[in-house]
Amino acid sequence: MKVIVTGSSGGIGKAVSNRFISLGHFVYGFDIKQSAINNDLYHHFNVDIKNLSCLPDINDADIIFNNAGMQNSEDDISNNLKGTINVTEKYIKSCKLKSILFNASASAVSGQEFPEYAASKSGLLGYMKNVAIRLAPQGVTVNAISLGGVHTPLNDCVVNNSDCWQKIMDVTPLKKWMTPDEVADWVVFLTMTNKSMSGQNLIIDNGEYDLIPTFVWPDNKKLNFPQN
Ligand SMILES: NC(=O)c1ccc[n+]([C@@H]2O[C@H](COP(=O)([O-])OP(=O)(O)OC[C@H]3O[C@@H](n4cnc5c(N)ncnc54)[C@H](O)[C@@H]3O)[C@@H](O)[C@H]2O)c1
Repeated sequence: MKVIVTGSSGGIGKAVSNRFISLGHFVYGFDIKQSAINNDLYHHFNVDIKNLSCLPDINDADIIFNNAGMQNSEDDISNNLKGTINVTEKYIKSCKLKSILFNASASAVSGQEFPEYAASKSGLLGYMKNVAIRLAPQGVTVNAISLGGVHTPLNDCVVNNSDCWQKIMDVTPLKKWMTPDEVADWVVFLTMTNKSMSGQNLIIDNGEYDLIPTFVWPDNKKLNFPQN
């Protein structure tokens, strides 16, 4: 298989690229940063996905992992939403694709985090559905993942701040974040194993979006929480 991974020099994109390579697949990596992978099964394109005219001509990709994104940049909507639309529309036309996966965010459904970031990521979910409808007749699966916290450099400022980290764990039911390698497990499953689910958004967030107890009752014992 040949796989396009955008944002391949960063935490999640690099881990996902390395996973596909370790499985014997060829990766076309796109990033504004220099290549972070040195392997015969990897070709790096130093491109900004916001700039449609810079995107290389590729006509043999089977899978796209739309991952490149920034948080709280000057222009999250152009970068995360319009840039991803640029990549998708270009390779929908030139490639015989089998699967597309969008890396949205838990903030796409919760509205948490920064205003333009949340808007850019929820915009991706509407666009994902649109692409899923258009490509279903060709048997192409198109889905999104909405991740909670992942241990990548993007989050060093909160992970390395013990006060912030304690507050995060207080509102994270499973009391942990994901590693980029765990994200790679999901990406491979959803793009290669999955043949029957399309147009869906999976929230993979250690329960932060909807496992915080909100039910109020005078006698807590009846709720049977282990700590009661
Ligand atoms: N880390 C998390 O907790 C988390 C949670 C939910 C969603 N996400 C999403 O996952 C994706 C990857 O996040 P990460 O934590 O690995 O971040 P990261 O900053 O480590 O990596 C992102 C990569 O994308 C590249 N990139 C950004 N804009 C680009 C553009 N316009 N053109 C080309 N390359 C571009 C960056 O240079 C970087 O290498 C992002 O879309 C992010 O919003 C991350």
